[in-house]
Amino acid sequence: MEINDVKIYEYDAVVVGAGLAGLAAAKELKEAGKKVAVITKLHPLRSHSGAAQGGINAALSEDDSTELHEFDTVKGSDYLGDQDAIELMCQGAPETIRWAERMGAVFSRSEDGKIAIRPFGGQSKPRACYAADRTGLTLLQTIYEQAFRAGIEVFDEWYCADLLYENGKVKGVAAFNIRNSEPAIFNAKVTMFATGGYGRAFKINSNAHANTGDALSIVARRGLPLEDMEFVQFHPSGLGGSGILISEAARGEGGRLFNSEGERFMSKYAPNAMELASRDVVSRAIMQEIREGRGVGPNKDAVYIDLTHLPKETIMTKLPELRELAITFLGQDMLKEPIMIAATAHYSMGGIPVTKRCQVKSSPSDLVEGFYAAGECSCVSVHGANRLGANSLLEALFFGRQAGRAMLEDMDSIEFVKAEAKDAEQMIAKVNGIKTNNGTERVPELRDELQRSMTIDAGVFRTEESLARQKEKLKELYERYKNIRIDDKSNTYNTDLQEAIELGHMIDFSLFIVEGALARKESRGAHYREDFPKRDDDNFLKHTYSKFNGEYSLDIDYGEVVLGKFEPQERKY
Ligand code: FUM
Repeated sequence: MEINDVKIYEYDAVVVGAGLAGLAAAKELKEAGKKVAVITKLHPLRSHSGAAQGGINAALSEDDSTELHEFDTVKGSDYLGDQDAIELMCQGAPETIRWAERMGAVFSRSEDGKIAIRPFGGQSKPRACYAADRTGLTLLQTIYEQAFRAGIEVFDEWYCADLLYENGKVKGVAAFNIRNSEPAIFNAKVTMFATGGYGRAFKINSNAHANTGDALSIVARRGLPLEDMEFVQFHPSGLGGSGILISEAARGEGGRLFNSEGERFMSKYAPNAMELASRDVVSRAIMQEIREGRGVGPNKDAVYIDLTHLPKETIMTKLPELRELAITFLGQDMLKEPIMIAATAHYSMGGIPVTKRCQVKSSPSDLVEGFYAAGECSCVSVHGANRLGANSLLEALFFGRQAGRAMLEDMDSIEFVKAEAKDAEQMIAKVNGIKTNNGTERVPELRDELQRSMTIDAGVFRTEESLARQKEKLKELYERYKNIRIDDKSNTYNTDLQEAIELGHMIDFSLFIVEGALARKESRGAHYREDFPKRDDDNFLKHTYSKFNGEYSLDIDYGEVVLGKFEPQERKY
């Protein structure tokens, strides 16, 4: 890759990521007549938004209210969520559903013809609107069709490798075409990241292969902070052995959890909500049962979810995809027998800190000019320490649109700063460095060690000892990564190269997870410290902001949580 080959494209706006958040923002911009480019390392229809199965929350029923939705979200977040952002999102939820429907999203219907809603964990009313168990896919297909119709330019199979950030301002990104390694700069007044999550840092996860958290490390390497990275959600029901998502809808429709002794064990952990407690509570319960020897399956590393008491029609019409997945990957038919599940890394509550207008922050109180983020890569923070199921599709659509509108509003007052080919120097040096490095370490092996150690030592249960061990492991991996070698030196669909870049990102942002978890000496939401099992509002009702202070070490700072009408109280389900 050579500097002379760098092409410079100029746009009003560049959006990286083509899932729900990215396309929602791009659509706002395009419809207002702006020139917008969407860059994605996948085809948009392969974005991970499409993998969300069970639903999207909105208080639609007569006995529900947006205030109740807000309360459930605040409680689910273990009071770490910012209540102003939560209020905005929950109040905007019904309109978001109508907007999606007007675009053509076909939701499942109840007998009376209304949009069907189902119960989900941690919620006092059924409010997950759904399209069978393919809700994310339905929304993604719909918004992609509309983006296509609007004529949004999509650079698919382009890899965004660097952020052009200087003097508190972003002027675009450096990227290369995965097909032929052609380097380019996308120069714009406003830039948005909507690149999704990073579940692939863990061995057992529900995430697509693409979910390697690239944008987080790109931002962090530019000296910008990441927020609340220690909060990683483990979804209670990953398919045994693989972690493939078995939607919470399975429990929403009535699925029951059993251990090897035939005990419906949730009665010990959440006697009221049972299987529909919040995800952090159910995941810990499952893993506790397994740790105490009451797991099922050949390795005793799963529990059962039983749906055999449900009418066949419920499964065939509301959960058909889940049934297929369990048959394909486990040979277990949920119509006839319980299926094996265990907790799986699913979602990142933390990410790039943003305001309610999705502007990226350079500190708890300062903003980066021309830079926005939304969806899972961002931290707004509506999920706090634990996200409620079916709030992520909502967040992606709602805050994706917010970002689009904010970019439109701000654009006129932002000066276009011209980029030059040399702005791609860092990307080119990195790519060429990886290709010519003649070391002895292999990317798949390092990745496997990273994923396994993160799962064991920075997973559902954490201690000072396990986290300190993981910090040492990360430092070791960081050093060994300098000595990698890839065999494919070509310019065409070089997946060896891409995987090596992605591994570098995973090693970098994993340090933020582990350091944040080490520093947070309390248990809150998905972050569970066995050595500090209680929530500590006196010392830790605050957001973590960490940034690189050198080659591979961090400074940790904290910022205020926005409180509101819901006073922090003990969470019980
Ligand atoms: O369980 C699920 O269907 C996942 C939904 C979500 O993470 O919001």
